[in-house]
Amino acid sequence: MKNTPVDYKIAKEVIDSYKLSHFGKATIREVVAISSQLEELTNVEFIHMEMGVPGLKPAQVGVDAEIKALQSGIASVYPNINGAAELKKEASRFIKAFIDIDIDPECCVPVTGSMQGTYASFLTCGQCVDGKDTILFIDPGFPVQKQQIVVMGYKYESFDVYEYRGEKLQAKLEEYLKKGNIAAMIYSNPNNPAWFCFTDKELKVIGELANKYDTIVIEDLAYFAMDFRKDLGTPFLPPYQSTVAKYTDNYIMQISGSKAFSYAGQRIGVTAISNKLYHRSYPGLTQRYGGGTFGTVYIHRVLYALSSGTSHSAQFALAAMFKAASDGTFDFVSEVKEYGLRAKRLKEIFKNHGFKIVYDHDLDEPIADGFYFTISYPGMTGSELMQQLIYYGISAISLETTGSNQEGLRACTSFIKDHQYKLLNERLNIFNENHPIV
Ligand SMILES: Cc1ncc(COP(=O)(O)O)c(C=O)c1O
Repeated sequence: MKNTPVDYKIAKEVIDSYKLSHFGKATIREVVAISSQLEELTNVEFIHMEMGVPGLKPAQVGVDAEIKALQSGIASVYPNINGAAELKKEASRFIKAFIDIDIDPECCVPVTGSMQGTYASFLTCGQCVDGKDTILFIDPGFPVQKQQIVVMGYKYESFDVYEYRGEKLQAKLEEYLKKGNIAAMIYSNPNNPAWFCFTDKELKVIGELANKYDTIVIEDLAYFAMDFRKDLGTPFLPPYQSTVAKYTDNYIMQISGSKAFSYAGQRIGVTAISNKLYHRSYPGLTQRYGGGTFGTVYIHRVLYALSSGTSHSAQFALAAMFKAASDGTFDFVSEVKEYGLRAKRLKEIFKNHGFKIVYDHDLDEPIADGFYFTISYPGMTGSELMQQLIYYGISAISLETTGSNQEGLRACTSFIKDHQYKLLNERLNIFNENHPIV
């Protein structure tokens, strides 16, 4: 390969030293390690698009509330396992303000990030009914959630929704649900890695099937309100964040502080369980725990066993951010719109160099610009493209790790710096020379 920005021989040696039998299966951490090592060895700056870490400053209103809470001396006592009353109240109000759904404060439960929220949800959902022991992933998805299933020794099934959007979704879902073993189904909206958003019609299909087959929907709203095609940032006014909760009571929402409020480091989020599901008892839970409802088992058995609650100070931070957002004094959506602006510019540059956006539409509407987007290059598999781009100082992850059947990469906008658009353009010019499209 000629004139690659990163020395070809050194890059090849470093990649080979990881002894990955199949490069496309490299985890995010491995790609970070390889790109960081190459940066150090060659002094060539990398355009990092592999990590989904927020690249903005944390919301100040949260930081201030957290400091104040710590100064009041709360650190010495265990947090209430149900969650701080203030956070429960503000979470319920926030959900009303931005999703237009009523969930009682009792059913809004703080967790140490959505990561814990999904772990506890998978675990509880899989214990409700004998024989309903499998989690269905509507893929592509967030790879660590499958890792959670592996850690707990559960079973999962999955399919790439690429071919099954719109009308085709119902039959595809029923293929799985009619077997009767699906305890819960999960998807993220907007989607990590592909940034598509299910339409209301699709959410209706998912919700109605959850009712028909008595299956729980875990709706992962890690990228809450980031469908920037709509103005989702005005409290108590439409349009609202789309949700399956309009169509079923069998749902759990995961709302994370990490991306919407750039608060990932403090590990805070809320699991919001529908009022009906929270108070429902299940034979499997009664048998295992001697009683309780879905909500009380979730909190007093599962979360108690996992972490005995969520750090007080982070709860006060999230409560303050929710409150300010619902009061209309903190426009959190405008703050994160930066990701959308970056995606627009980056997608343009990639497209100008012959790349294609893989998941490019929500039915007839182009997808939004946001935190992630997906790219492919003619004639290359995702794995080949991922490895080739390393030689050009560009790192991203293959879609293979996300449950996608498409050949391509996920690119994340969060670490992009202003001077890197020009750099990307220059590097892709060389890439084109070395890999002409035939
Ligand atoms: C779809 C999805 N769910 C959950 C998470 C984790 O969120 P948290 O930081 O709240 O644990 C992420 C983080 O990247 C994500 O992309």
